[in-house]
Amino acid sequence: MATKNENSSSGGASERGRERILTLIEKHRAARWPLIPLLQAIQEEIGYIPPAAVREIAESLGLFPAQVQGVISFYAQFYTEPKGKYLVRVCRGTSCHVRGGREVLATVKENLGIDEGETTSDMLFSLESVACLGTCFLSPAMMVGKDYYGLLAPRKIPSILKNYQKGKKT
Ligand code: FES
Repeated sequence: MATKNENSSSGGASERGRERILTLIEKHRAARWPLIPLLQAIQEEIGYIPPAAVREIAESLGLFPAQVQGVISFYAQFYTEPKGKYLVRVCRGTSCHVRGGREVLATVKENLGIDEGETTSDMLFSLESVACLGTCFLSPAMMVGKDYYGLLAPRKIPSILKNYQKGKKT
């Protein structure tokens, strides 16, 4: 199964992953506030922020590793371990909750065979619940990767997920 993650068991990046990180560092070094855009670019490219890269990122920007680590820890958007190719985010906000969001989340868990914070063994999906996706008028809602799905019902979940499993969505 193809995945954009290239990790080693020690939490470091592969040699090719490291080269890609160094290229991104060079590209972002001149920016005025380069850290967050650089972290976003690394995560987009590698799939997560390898812990082994923190020191190199810090040195390249004249920061302490603890400062870089602090930013990574503060923002929920950054991950320090590999995630699935598609991040499934199911809304648990009030508007979604009262319109069946809990059943949607339960159905996603059942279909993927994972709990929140987990990744499928084929590295295709990771699952999270979020406070609000900003599309309350479409509640209950979820996202798969960059795609929004609204006005959901549990019966719609299997076919949505199957599209990604069959590679119809990229
Ligand atoms: S509460 Fe679910 S999208 Fe806002």
